[in-house]
Amino acid sequence: MRTLKIASIPGDGIGKEVVPAAEEVVQAAVKAFGGVEIEFTQFPWSCEYYLEHGKMMPDDGLETLKEFDAVFLGAVGNPELVADHISLWGLLINIRRNFEQVLNMRPAKTFKGLKSKLADPKDFDIMVVRENSEGEYSEIGGRIYQGEDQIAIQSAVFSRKATERAVRHAFKLAAERGKKVTSATKSNGIIHSMPFWDEIFEETALEYPDFKTESQHIDALAAFFVTAPERFDVIVASNLFGDILTDIGAAIMGSVGIAPAANINMNGKYPSMFEPVHGSAPDIVGKELANPIGQIWTAKMMLDHLGEEKIADRLLEVIEGVIADGIMTRDIGGTSTTTEVKDEIIRRLQA
Ligand code: NAD
Ligand code: IPM
Ligand code: MN
Repeated sequence: MRTLKIASIPGDGIGKEVVPAAEEVVQAAVKAFGGVEIEFTQFPWSCEYYLEHGKMMPDDGLETLKEFDAVFLGAVGNPELVADHISLWGLLINIRRNFEQVLNMRPAKTFKGLKSKLADPKDFDIMVVRENSEGEYSEIGGRIYQGEDQIAIQSAVFSRKATERAVRHAFKLAAERGKKVTSATKSNGIIHSMPFWDEIFEETALEYPDFKTESQHIDALAAFFVTAPERFDVIVASNLFGDILTDIGAAIMGSVGIAPAANINMNGKYPSMFEPVHGSAPDIVGKELANPIGQIWTAKMMLDHLGEEKIADRLLEVIEGVIADGIMTRDIGGTSTTTEVKDEIIRRLQA
């Protein structure tokens, strides 16, 4: 039987609640279908791990992860224990960068049964292709001087290679969807990198003459996400713009607790990593309030990526059914706990 080996890193906060829940759900789905076996191996790398070991993961952590078919991550960050820049560069960004997970795929769509935060939403189905390796998240920068003269500098890095890769992927995806690509930009002469981004977008668009294309300033685009999300099909965005847009995408779907994400390695050299859009949510830890759907939907994206589409589709169907029947956590208008939602999904998968 085919065995898929998954490295599981719950991380911090509600990651420790939603990752085990999602793993249980995946095992139930796999059992219901058969034909494949999934083996999760746990890694306790987190802020607590840092307090004990002085690092977010062991020195050979990446070597260890490299052997897996995929990484399944909850969330990283417990600012009360460890400063975010240490925990994030030490684990989350460390994996994204070293495993060349150059794109971050983040869907936002009307979800059957789920009430959007919008008053009167039309159906929307958006895929945000977020450039995941550079841009505003470059390593170039730091602080200089002291006291009132202190300055923080961050250089945004936009390479032709990475920009073109993201743009081209957006067009490829759009070819199988609505043939419409929107580029998130800020090219009104203020930010040097964005006219460059636009040039690459326009050059690539020439190869797809029958596609609808548009460049939209990020500020206006953010507003349109709220007022008219049905306008969009595939969106290509820089690292920071994509980050912000996808939290808005999550909110207009219903909650940041449901949005999934996939950090994709495109050259086949390293595993891809699957983690929801949301963070470690320190404000709701230990209260059974965490919505497990983001992590479970993320598992669905992982199963798709690993070629187990049938199991993935069934998982989504069951999630939709559970939500449609009102079994949901408080963030999306329900009264169920994390465990109750998880248990009901499992019960239906087994039925
Ligand atoms: P957050 O996403 O953790 O929380 C924002 C709000 O959404 C909070 O009110 C939280 O309770 C709520 N929320 C988030 N996930 C939820 C869920 N599954 N169910 C119900 N409600 C949910 O963002 P934040 O507060 O800005 O960040 C907290 C920590 O997480 C920080 O350390 C941050 O750096 C980190 N973070 C990590 C990741 C990641 O690892 N991928 C992503 C975002 C933030
Ligand atoms: C995300 C997160 C991360 C990001 C942070 C925690 C570095 O917000 O995955 O969306 O900005 O990429
Ligand atoms: Mn984010």
